[in-house]
This record gives sequence, structure tokens and C-alpha cells, in this order.
Amino acid sequence: MDRRDFLANLSCTAALAATVPNVWRVTNRPRFADDPFQLGVASGDPTPNGGVIWTRLAPKPLELDGGMPGPRTVVTWEVASDDGFRTIVKQGRATAAAELSYSVHVDVTGLEPERWYYYRFMAGDARSPVGRLRTTPAASASTPLRFAVASCQFYEQGYYTAYAHMAREELDLVTHLGDYIYEYGQYEGRVRRHAGLEIRTLDDYRRRYAQYKSDPLLQAAHALCPWVVTWDDHEVDNNYAGSIGENIMESEEQMRARRAAGYQAWWEHQPVRVPRAQSWADLNITRSFDWGSLARFWVLDGRQYRSDQACDDGGRVVPCGEWASPSRTMLGQRQEKWVTDGLAASRARWNVLANQVMVAPNDADAGPPLQLPMDTWSGYPAARDRLLGAIATHAPNRSVVLTGDIHTQWANELHAGFSRPDRPVVAAEFVATSITSGGDGNANPGNNPSAINPHVKWYANQRGYISCTVEPGAWTAAYRSVPYVSRPDAPLETPATWRLTHGRAGLTRV
Ligand SMILES: [Fe+2]
Repeated sequence: MDRRDFLANLSCTAALAATVPNVWRVTNRPRFADDPFQLGVASGDPTPNGGVIWTRLAPKPLELDGGMPGPRTVVTWEVASDDGFRTIVKQGRATAAAELSYSVHVDVTGLEPERWYYYRFMAGDARSPVGRLRTTPAASASTPLRFAVASCQFYEQGYYTAYAHMAREELDLVTHLGDYIYEYGQYEGRVRRHAGLEIRTLDDYRRRYAQYKSDPLLQAAHALCPWVVTWDDHEVDNNYAGSIGENIMESEEQMRARRAAGYQAWWEHQPVRVPRAQSWADLNITRSFDWGSLARFWVLDGRQYRSDQACDDGGRVVPCGEWASPSRTMLGQRQEKWVTDGLAASRARWNVLANQVMVAPNDADAGPPLQLPMDTWSGYPAARDRLLGAIATHAPNRSVVLTGDIHTQWANELHAGFSRPDRPVVAAEFVATSITSGGDGNANPGNNPSAINPHVKWYANQRGYISCTVEPGAWTAAYRSVPYVSRPDAPLETPATWRLTHGRAGLTRV
């Protein structure tokens, strides 16, 4: 490849790959002792004419720099309309560089709306597995959408069987709501308790992603269709808030350095269209995307801009401390305004918040006092009232909140303001459980929160995901679960399906 070609190619991917200095020091024909594509491929953030395709070169995934020799390597990519690559519609070259852990993000454009495409990468003599990318419908189209909601995939707590089932569904899209990795120290192997030191450095986080990404079932789910990914706390540190860590011994300066490492490694390993920031510690991942005129998704970040938890992180009897203060925020002022203004301007049939922690309150015991989890929206009641107020004003009964974090399944009705639960229902919240976090579930949980919290219509404690079918008139959420994750090959069950009718308040069980 000559230098002019390389620069021309670089300009196509510049927004994602950023500026790579010393561009002439590129390895054109690398030789790999081991397959450099062991972490698979992925696509994401689809548009009507394209999407991001991703891979990372790592011939020895768990070694420093993935065992890659040399500072940078040329990778070629192809997008075809058939899985045999007989009709290649787009191709090009990108550079995998050490400073971005040899990850490759190509923002492919010029494709047709609402179509399946196949993509792959080549480096030296090696060729990657094939992944699929589906472009979104044209802006005016109201084509139905089928997608899955996933979160929380603690590697040592079980097998990713849920992903094997997900890969057998006909899905246009997967949304992942965070806890893609966990930062805890760990033993070797699967299905063990964690121990040892938490990860903190960029190399630590990169190796952790490499470990998770090596899972064949996770790779299969990524190859199936584009993903839209956000993060929660464990991509950096359990229950962190802004630049305040879980551990009070960790200074805000140390937490910012840790955030920079966690955020950079996240960016390197996800198929996202997220421009790099001046500083990785300030990476802004909030973005929206449209599925034709049917749905607009608001991809939220409920970690980076939030106020510290009131009265510590756990369950607390309220009121306590600054809990109810209107100055406290979950999304930060800028993101909150972006969502509120966006809801006001949106002409989409459905508005969807891809969110982290649960919005609906879950009081722990019957009768007074109220005891609420401080890390969820229940710990930020004024911010929650503002969000639900915006939904009530601008998009009532055509808004859906998707939630992860809590490792259990919930179908919730959201009221216009939970400080006054007599206000009408304005939205639904579908809470996906974990893929593995928490280990095997419990088919007969002792305490059912729906008995104490009337807006909770259904609750279960199994691992799995949600499969959503979105049509102009109705949103159907099928809760998928696997009875165990401590052994492979669990069967798939659908313990409940809930429906929200467009323009009508409240959920109905199907
Ligand atoms: Fe989690």
C-alpha cells in the first residue's frame, strides 16, 4: 500500500480511528503464528446506509498487546450482499495500531436501507469470521423491529447459553445495557467466585475484554446482527458515580485515571460510532438512533455525570441526607436537557430509553418506612420525577424504558411522578435480567417485589434476556430465560410475555 492510498483510506475512518502518527511505518504483510481474529467480529450503531464494523487483532489475546508484533498493521475489509462474498459492495483498508490495541472500527456508508450485509476482515494470510450487518429502514418507513435486550455477563458466574439461544432468533438488533465486563479480581476458569485485586490499568481492562470476547457464544451473538451498546458501572468500578469510586480510599484523581482506562478499553472493544474525546476520561457515549419512523432510541449514560449516591450505595430508609435534593442528578444537566428536548421534538412512533439502572421504585418491605436502593433512579427521586414528567408531557404511552443492572426480570408501569403515585401511568419499563451475573436463578424466589410495589406487574429471578417485537400499534416483550448457567446447554424458556399498546396506559400480559 502506498502512502497516498493509506492516507485516503485513513480519512474515511479518521473519525473513529483518529490520527495515527508515523503512518509510513505500517506492516503490510504481517505473518501471524496464531489466528489474529480470535476475538471475533461485530457490527453496531446501524444507519439507513451503513454501520460500524469492528474487529481487534490479537493472536495471543490474553498477552500484553494481544501478542501483536510491530506498531501497526494494515487490515483490509469487505462488505458483501451475500454470505459467499460473490457480490462485494464495499471494501477498503484500515490500520490497526498499538495505541488502540489493534482494534479496527470502520464506519461503512453507501449501503441500501433495510438490508442484510455480510462483512469480514483480512490481515496477512488470516481471514476473520463473517459477521452480519443490517441497515435500518429509511426515515419514513414504519417496518417492524425485532431486537433483544441484554446486560450483565459476569464471566466467572456462568455460561453464555442465553446468547446461544439469542443467536437462533431472527433479530434485527441487540441492545446491551452494560456490565459487559466485571472489574473484580479473578481466579482462572468459569463458574468461580471472584477474589484478588480489581483491575485498574488500561492493560488490565484490555485483557479483561479479551477474555470475555474469547467466548464463542458471545462472538456468535455479535456476528448475528448489529449491536447498540452502552455501559454501566462494572466497565470501570462497582457503583461509581462521576469521579467518585466505590472504595473511599481511591481519590477522585485516581478514579479519573481508572475511568480513562476503562472508557478507552470499552471504546476499543465495542462496535460504536462514538467520537474520541480530548481525554478518554471524558468520553461521551450518549447518542440516538432511529429505526425508520417506528422508534427512536436514546442511548443513555447514567454513570459518568451522576451525583454521588445519597447515604451510601445500598438500600436505605428514606428520606435521608441529600436524597430528595432537586440539585442531584442521574444524567447530568446536559444529557438531561438532550433527552428532554429530544422527546419534545421526536416524531417517532415509539421513544426508547436504553438505560442502566431501574427507574421504578422497589420498596424492600411492606408498610412504612420506604426502603430504597440508593444506586438506582430511586436514589435520585427529583431527577426521576423530571424524566417521567418529560415523558408525560411529550410522549405519554409511546415511551419505553429498557433497563439492566439488577440481574432479575421485571415488567413495570411508570407513573408520571413516583412522588405522587396517583398520577397516571405514562410509560413501561422492561428490565432484562443478566446473561450470567448472579449465577443460577431461582424459579421460586421467596420475596416477590410485585406484592409490595403495585406498579411492578411481574418479577422473576432467572438468567436470560428480553426479545422485543415493536410494531406501530404495540410493543411486545417476551422474557426469555435459562434455568441454569452453572452448566452449559440449558434449554430456553419464555416465562412471561407483556404487551404495551400504543397510546394506551398500562401493560397487559399476553
Ligand atoms: Fe451487573
